[in-house]
Amino acid sequence: MSLAASTARQSARRVQQCISTVSRAAHTSPLHTSGSRRLLSTQTSRTALPATLRTFTPKRAFTTSPALSHGHIDPPKPGQERRVTVIDKEGESHTFEVSDGDNLLDIAQANDLEMEGACGGSCACSTCHVIVNDGEMYDKMEEPDDDENDMLDLAFGLTETSRLGCQIKMSKELDGLVVKLPSMTRNLQASDFAKKG
Ligand code: FES
Repeated sequence: MSLAASTARQSARRVQQCISTVSRAAHTSPLHTSGSRRLLSTQTSRTALPATLRTFTPKRAFTTSPALSHGHIDPPKPGQERRVTVIDKEGESHTFEVSDGDNLLDIAQANDLEMEGACGGSCACSTCHVIVNDGEMYDKMEEPDDDENDMLDLAFGLTETSRLGCQIKMSKELDGLVVKLPSMTRNLQASDFAKKG
């Protein structure tokens, strides 16, 4: 055999050995499990990586956590129940017993009523617009601040007793509050945008 042929054969054998080593490492890797992790197993294991990468440990681990749930409220303590009634867009009344400090957005969302709360209660939209039914009860509430007034100016169907639900917190004084949901809110993504008020 010529020298050139012998050298070529040795090179081919070395390449074959490398492929076998990498393939074995990939399939015996502890990452070789089912599901999304399988993708990782097709890459080389740590033993097949350069020394500088073998000790690499990601700073952030992948974790899973439940999506934040909106409208979480705790049941009121016995003897401290506050009653609030929400009249939905279809005119149906829903009465709840809630705790002091619960705001109307959380109460509505916890009870699957249609109050969008696009900004998450940070007074930066008007999709939690409610209309207080009773002027006397409206007067018992703290005055809306400038931010709330700015957002109320954008609310569809503004009335004299309009408020933002996320800014109204239940209290002893507001026990028995009744509010109405407007038939439409000013949010281009709301499914009811085109409905007439
Ligand atoms: Fe946006 Fe109330 S949820 S202002």
